[in-house]
Amino acid sequence: MSDSTEYKNILSPSILAADFSILGEQIRKADEAGAEYIHIDVMDGVFVPSISFGMPVIETIRKVTDKTFDVHLMIVEPERFVKEFAACGADSITFHLEATEDAEELIEQIHALGCRAGMAVKPKTPIEAVRKYLDKLDMLLVMTVEPGFGGQSFMENQMEKLAALRALCAERNPECLLEVDGGVNAQTGALCRQSGANVLVAGSAFFKAKDKAAFVKEIEAAV
Ligand code: DX5
Ligand code: ZN
Repeated sequence: MSDSTEYKNILSPSILAADFSILGEQIRKADEAGAEYIHIDVMDGVFVPSISFGMPVIETIRKVTDKTFDVHLMIVEPERFVKEFAACGADSITFHLEATEDAEELIEQIHALGCRAGMAVKPKTPIEAVRKYLDKLDMLLVMTVEPGFGGQSFMENQMEKLAALRALCAERNPECLLEVDGGVNAQTGALCRQSGANVLVAGSAFFKAKDKAAFVKEIEAAV
């Protein structure tokens, strides 16, 4: 971690909810509204039921903004592709624990590429599965929907897990960012912050918001 952003709340707008016909413009808007991260959902149609986009799109939008590219890989065998995602402009690469055989090796691989390493867990994956990787991670992503689609309802039942993981991070790796993703809006975002999240992904709620700068402020408000 090279900066002090880990101690404040950060909004990461998910471009999955953007209008792809004017993607560059939409990202510029997110940038100007004050979002520090851009959340980029890569789906392969195998790990999740849908397909989104890949490296060529990321490479193209890299020209539009210098904001942190928070790449969320919802793909099987992520180790096959991390090098290419780093090369096309990812700053942070988050893989799913459920999608890889050797998470420890993958974390090392991501670090060796000069990126921050994140690990995501699906709603049913228990805390115990995460514990042994915690001290090596830059970010832990707790899904608050089943991964695969934008616009789903927030799973409030993940708040207990989030709070427990926050406590575990405080003990083992206080600099580890704790991210939430799925169904986050102004109301559910407040719940997430109270439970310990400090990076909040929002797709639909962000791109629907008329006043995007106000939305960023609301999401990043201190608890
Ligand atoms: C879901 C994706 C999310 C999604 C969030 O699998 O990982 O990042 O884009 O979208 P909303 O905020 O609409 O739930
Ligand atoms: Zn995501």
